[in-house]
Amino acid sequence: MRILSGIQPTGPSYHVGNYLGAIKQWVEMQETADCLFCIVDLHAITVPQDPKTLAKSTLEKTAELLALGIDPDRCTLFAQSYVKEHTELSWIFSTITPVGELERMTQYKDKAKKQRENANAGLLTYPILMAADILLYKPDVVPVGEDQKQHLELTRAIARKFNARFGKTFAEPAALIPKTGGRIMSLQDPKKKMSKSDPADTQISLFDSPEAIRKKIKIAVTDTGKDIKYSQTKKPGISNLLLLYSLFSGTTISEAETYFKGKGYAVLKKELADVLIETLEPFRVKKHSLISRDVYLREVLLRGAKKARSLAEQTMEEVRAKVGLLS
Ligand code: AMP
Ligand code: TRP
Repeated sequence: MRILSGIQPTGPSYHVGNYLGAIKQWVEMQETADCLFCIVDLHAITVPQDPKTLAKSTLEKTAELLALGIDPDRCTLFAQSYVKEHTELSWIFSTITPVGELERMTQYKDKAKKQRENANAGLLTYPILMAADILLYKPDVVPVGEDQKQHLELTRAIARKFNARFGKTFAEPAALIPKTGGRIMSLQDPKKKMSKSDPADTQISLFDSPEAIRKKIKIAVTDTGKDIKYSQTKKPGISNLLLLYSLFSGTTISEAETYFKGKGYAVLKKELADVLIETLEPFRVKKHSLISRDVYLREVLLRGAKKARSLAEQTMEEVRAKVGLLS
C-alpha cells in the first residue's frame, strides 16, 4: 500500500489540529505502508512569503516533522520544489480542469476573500498542483484533515478525466480522514477550525512551552452552563476541549464525560493542560536538538527528493507519451 500526503512549510509551528488531523496518522502508517510525505513549499508561495524566511521555515518544519516521529529511514520525506515533475504534471492537468470547478473550492473562496489585493492565479490553480503532488506517485490512500476533502474529490475527478481522455493511467486515491480529530476548532472561536494563520491564542502549537499551554487552555472560550457534555451545536467550546482531552489521553468521549461528571470546567481545563504538556514536552525537546542542524535537515530532504524523483520520472514518461509530447 502506498500513502502520500503533503503539508505547507509556512506560518508558526504545526498545531494540535495538524497533528490529530494528519501527522499522527502519518507516523503510524510509516510502519506498514510505503509512505511519501511532501513539504509543499510551492503551495506556500500562493500567499506572500518573505524569501529570506521561506527556506528557513522549510527546514524548521522538517525539524518539527522529525521531532513528531516522521522517520526518514522509514518513509520518503522531501520538499515539493526539489522534484520538478510536480509543476510539469500540474500544467498538463490544468489543461483538462474546468475553471468553474476551481472557483467552487471553499479554500479558494476563503483565501481570495482574505487577500483581495493578491488574488493571484496560483490561489485558483492550487488544487491542480495538489492533484499533481498526489497522482505522480499513484498512491492508494491520502491521509488528510477534513478541510482537504474537497481537494481530494477534485483530484479524483482529474484522474478520471485524464483517463477518459488519454487512456487508463491513474487509479483514484481515497482520502483518509480520521473519524474524530479531522477538524479541531479554534480555542477562541470554536465554530471556526483551528488555523495556523490565526492569532497564537487560538491554537496550541505542538512546541508550546508548558506555561503557554496552561495559559491558552485557561483562556479558551467555553459555553454557558456547568455540565461537561459533548454537543457540537449546544456546547462547541467544551466539546472541542473534551475532544482534545479524549484524543490526547486515549479515552473515548463518553469515558471522558463520565470521568468529568460533576466536576467543573476548571477541572477539565487543568487536566487537559496536564495531558497536553505530558505528550508535547518530548516533541519540544526533540525539536530543540534538531533545529540548528541545517546541513542534516537539508540532506534529509535531498535524499527524499532523490527517491521521490525516480518515481515521479516514471509517471511523467508515461504521461508525456499518452498526451503526445515528444520523448
Ligand atoms: P496545512 O497546514 O494547511 O498544510 O494542513 C496540513 C494538514 O493538517 C492537512 O491534512 C489539513 O487537513 C490538516 N489540518 C489543518 N488544520 C486542521 C484542523 N484544525 N483540524 C484537523 N486537521 C487540520
Ligand atoms: N492542500 C494541503 C493543505 O493545505 C496541502 C497539500 C498539498 C497536500 N499537496 C498535498 C495534502 C497532497 C495531501 C496531499 O493542507
